[in-house]
Amino acid sequence: MNEAFKATVLVSGTGSNLQALIDARQANRIDLDIIHVISNVTAAKGLVRAANAGIRISVLEHGTFADRDEFDRALSLLIAAGDPDLVILAGFMRIIGPRVLGPFNGKMINLHPSLLPLYRGTNTYQRAIDAGDSQHGASIHFVTEELDGGPVIAQAIIPIFSEDDSQSLAQRLSPVEHSLVVATVEFFTAHRVECIDGNVIVDGEKLEKPLQLQADGHLHTQ
Ligand code: GRF
Repeated sequence: MNEAFKATVLVSGTGSNLQALIDARQANRIDLDIIHVISNVTAAKGLVRAANAGIRISVLEHGTFADRDEFDRALSLLIAAGDPDLVILAGFMRIIGPRVLGPFNGKMINLHPSLLPLYRGTNTYQRAIDAGDSQHGASIHFVTEELDGGPVIAQAIIPIFSEDDSQSLAQRLSPVEHSLVVATVEFFTAHRVECIDGNVIVDGEKLEKPLQLQADGHLHTQ
């Protein structure tokens, strides 16, 4: 029998996407072993969710380190100790430095609340509304040294309604993000996706457009 796919998840806040992964695992939808949850925020609710699920937790308060390099060094060691197959950034609000990324290049993914390449960085909901966009969404991409700039694996799209504000848009996107993260991890656990030379390869072929989350909760090519 194959060993379960091992993942380390990094969170800074609520951890609702982490919870979606825990739930999908418990429902036997994904053969994912979350071996470690790491947060840079002691009070992150995601840590409680992980502890409740019996997952090892660690906290690295970035403010307690002399500088970014010291923090990155500690984070890098902590991640590597578990030897994960995949590192999932699920609401991790720190920039990933080269020291952290290095050993996990091609094995680290990030969930971002926009249809990348639109709206890297923060405040994506308001920026989409202010631009008069008719749709918004979420992306999962391989992490590179460029903030929110790595190759996009999968996306989910939702409409923007005229009455939307950033809060209502974020609220509507949240459950869609949960489906997206689970469906994307499903591709990883099935060994269907990899990153080669900066390209996303799915089922052995270069992906020209991100996979798209469909109403059935699964990813399809566009
Ligand atoms: C999500 O909206 C994600 O797109 C962003 O941070 C949020 C994390 O939410 N990067 P949660 O902590 O998983 O509830």
